[in-house]
Amino acid sequence: TSSIFYGPEGSSPNYDEEKVAPYELPDLFLTIAGKQVSSFDEWFSVRRPEILSVYEKSIFGTSPLQARVSFRKSGPERVDATKSIRAQLYDLYLDNKNALLTQFIVFTPLNAKEAVPAFLGPNVLGNQSLTDLFSLPLSISWVYPRPALGIDATGYATVESVGVHSSRWPLDMIIKRGFAVVSFHYSDLFPDKPGGRPESIQPLFDVSSNRSYSWGAVATWAWGMIKVMDCLKDIDAIDEQKVIATGHSRLGKACLWAGAQDKRFAGVIANESGEGGSAISRRKFGERVSDIVRHLPHWFNDEYRSFVDNEENMPVDSHFLISLLAPRAVYVASAEDDLWSDPKGEFAGLVGASKVWKLYGNIADLSSYKEMPLTGKPLSEILSYHIRSGGHDITAYDWKQFLDFADKFIK
Ligand code: GCU
Repeated sequence: TSSIFYGPEGSSPNYDEEKVAPYELPDLFLTIAGKQVSSFDEWFSVRRPEILSVYEKSIFGTSPLQARVSFRKSGPERVDATKSIRAQLYDLYLDNKNALLTQFIVFTPLNAKEAVPAFLGPNVLGNQSLTDLFSLPLSISWVYPRPALGIDATGYATVESVGVHSSRWPLDMIIKRGFAVVSFHYSDLFPDKPGGRPESIQPLFDVSSNRSYSWGAVATWAWGMIKVMDCLKDIDAIDEQKVIATGHSRLGKACLWAGAQDKRFAGVIANESGEGGSAISRRKFGERVSDIVRHLPHWFNDEYRSFVDNEENMPVDSHFLISLLAPRAVYVASAEDDLWSDPKGEFAGLVGASKVWKLYGNIADLSSYKEMPLTGKPLSEILSYHIRSGGHDITAYDWKQFLDFADKFIK
């Protein structure tokens, strides 16, 4: 259909399943020393740390996870009585520098009697794009120009951007179901462009620590999620034991990495996260490592470049990334026309990872799924999946499934 994306200029994605060559996935249970682990405890204490450090070294880069942050309320609480939503902005600071990192927004149900579970995810156009219910300040961080979404030709938000992504953040629906939403503008941490590093928060860490970090932009966004998570234990309206890392596409990659590094996230929902997210790279279907390295070279670390046209030699594949979330609840979602993200590969990543949940106590084993779940027929387990009709986006349909999943496995 017309919504199928053939990638940026210079890419020639394979969209023909017949052309996917047989591939062999690296073994989740074989340690670097060559030992086969056979219990979950052993996997968790020996194999998992190995996989985590390979991801740091070869894909996302290392991040200053120990950095301390502080936060304070910014502006008054805003209330929409008709929709029963409360909104509060907070400034997030890097402690030792007193540097403002970002401003995060917390939406909570007005009449909640106790702390509520939450979805935590960055946004791509600024907090003002989530809703027009409150007059939230316009983001002052650069994004690539998109006049149709109220981003001017120089890459800054105008009033036209207010509420433009409300369909991706259906607050009314989420709040009614008793969940909070926590978000921040990803550009505050790393403006999403090649060469964006000097304007990112990364230089703050160059001198303050005696080591250097190899984090790319995706890891920087993930780091932001982790640092906002640090604050939630001090926000009474939120139950910090029940926070789900959530993200779409590039931020789906970020939320997988946030959940992998930080076990406090009770669950992860990765929507259409594609290459570098939940899709198996070795399928070489849709977006490839080469596409990311050419167009979005700031996303991953330097070693990632060595996998251009060399996916079979990656020390990991996406099932390794997802495995790092075990035994927590994970949702991977795809869309039929979003072939660039490789729906089949996204599902294959989840299936591959499910072996670890099986080892944990037979709570999920997707290996019997020889075929993809049908469009519009969600698989509702601790490892959930759906593919819906339509293209690359987050829709009310997606949120309906995410909320059912969160009710069942997080609430
Ligand atoms: C591009 C990129 C993808 C990414 C997507 C998005 O298409 O190539 O890797 O997932 O943007 O973030 O929407």
